[in-house]
Amino acid sequence: MWVQGASQLCPSTRQFLEIILALLCPGWLCQGSVYQIHVPPSVTVQQGLCVLLPCRFTADFSSSGPPYKYWLLKDADRDSSLAVATTNPNRSLLEPRGRFRLVGNSWDDCSLSISDVQARDMDRYYFRFEKGEFKYSYLETQPLVNVTGLREQPVLEVPEVLQPGQPVNVTCQAPGTCSGTSPQITWTGGFNSTATDISVPLANGSISYSSVLSFTPALADDNRELGCTVTYPAVGVSTRQTVQLHVGYAPELLPLGNCTVQGSGPGAVTTCYCAAEGNPQPHLEWRLPNRTLPGDFEGPELLATSWAQGPAVSTELRGPAGALANVSCAATNAHGQSQAVLPFVPIA
Ligand SMILES: *[C@@H]1O[C@H](CO)[C@@H](O)[C@H](O)[C@H]1NC(C)=O
Ligand SMILES: *[C@@H]1O[C@H](CO)[C@@H](O)[C@H](O)[C@H]1NC(C)=O
Ligand SMILES: *[C@@H]1O[C@H](CO)[C@@H](O)[C@H](O)[C@H]1NC(C)=O
Ligand SMILES: *[C@@H]1O[C@H](CO)[C@@H](O)[C@H](O)[C@H]1NC(C)=O
Ligand SMILES: *[C@@H]1O[C@H](CO)[C@@H](O)[C@H](O)[C@H]1NC(C)=O
Ligand SMILES: *[C@@H]1O[C@H](CO)[C@@H](O)[C@H](O)[C@H]1NC(C)=O
Ligand SMILES: *[C@@H]1O[C@H](CO)[C@@H](O)[C@H](O)[C@H]1NC(C)=O
Ligand SMILES: *[C@@H]1O[C@H](CO)[C@@H](O)[C@H](O)[C@H]1NC(C)=O
Repeated sequence: MWVQGASQLCPSTRQFLEIILALLCPGWLCQGSVYQIHVPPSVTVQQGLCVLLPCRFTADFSSSGPPYKYWLLKDADRDSSLAVATTNPNRSLLEPRGRFRLVGNSWDDCSLSISDVQARDMDRYYFRFEKGEFKYSYLETQPLVNVTGLREQPVLEVPEVLQPGQPVNVTCQAPGTCSGTSPQITWTGGFNSTATDISVPLANGSISYSSVLSFTPALADDNRELGCTVTYPAVGVSTRQTVQLHVGYAPELLPLGNCTVQGSGPGAVTTCYCAAEGNPQPHLEWRLPNRTLPGDFEGPELLATSWAQGPAVSTELRGPAGALANVSCAATNAHGQSQAVLPFVPIA
């Protein structure tokens, strides 16, 4: 009941009553009896990024005069302090660079956006609205802006397996979608490559930042570390992500595989040779019409030996000519398999 009368009291008494009311009757019991603000009690944001504090309020909008919205630091004087954000052009701002902005366009929107968030922004803030005779500070909910260190890492999009000699584009996506100062994205890993910065404006007015690195991996780049660092220059914080490259390819049989026969008749001996390349190093097998032998094998009739040289691995199979008709060689690694029937060539 005294709340309705309160609007006739002098401003300082009214303010005092408002504070008492906020202290005495928190929660739903007082809903409807005072002007309300709907704002989260706290938001958490990482240094360097940005945050939107969504906010709606009720007020006596029928009072004549231009409307002014203010966001003030929790202990700041409502009339004389520097505001963090305001629509009143005559009120001085704590920071003139406009990191704090009132972003809502509708008359009952008190949403506050903070960009390039710094550790010192961690504080409670309150909203104030003035329109002609109506002046009210919404002290019952003073949202806390909780600032933590920058923990979020960039997202690196790199194909799981790179093909040697094939150009590839890899992407580093900066954390956060903000409209403040653009982050700087740098690559490490020493590739002879070109990077392109990409900023994509999103429907809600924020911007997504990424960088695309184009390079051509070589087999020697296998296991090499590629890194991406995102720096927020307005705040002086950075975050980093690395990935270990895997340059691999499915086995390829080298064209010189063949079988040669020495001698003739029942005593003829066949020697088959097969070689393949791949990363990781392929595993070789001999496939006979009714059995499969590993690259290294010793049996009563058949003998297989294998060896590696550089990226290639080879195997040789010797046995009676009759047992080695239609022999094929198979090379397998994590990326695939290659198999071929070996041609018989006459001995020179
Ligand atoms: C801003 O200040 C100027 C000069 O002090 C004054 O003429 C004007 O009426 C003020 N405007 C508002 C909106 O308070
Ligand atoms: C701020 O956020 C961090 C991480 O969510 C949390 O651990 C911490 O308790 C919060 N601090 C305050 C004062 O709410
Ligand atoms: C990499 O990106 C460039 C520029 O967008 C494009 O021209 C090129 O085709 C892309 N290369 C690959 C391998 O996707
Ligand atoms: C980088 O690659 C370009 C073309 O691909 C070549 O002209 C240049 O010499 C290379 N630079 C280094 C340092 O290898
Ligand atoms: C804007 O949209 C992006 C993507 O939809 C979302 O991740 C981001 O949180 C939004 N930002 C704000 C301030 O609403
Ligand atoms: C058959 O294999 C041997 C290696 O053992 C190679 O020297 C020779 O050139 C091959 N012959 C043909 C016709 O591919
Ligand atoms: C499989 O090969 C062995 C010789 O390695 C032979 O003795 C046997 O008869 C063969 N079996 C069939 C079903 O071809
Ligand atoms: C060799 O393979 C071919 C085709 O797979 C088949 O037609 C032929 O009978 C086979 N020869 C022998 C001796 O197994």
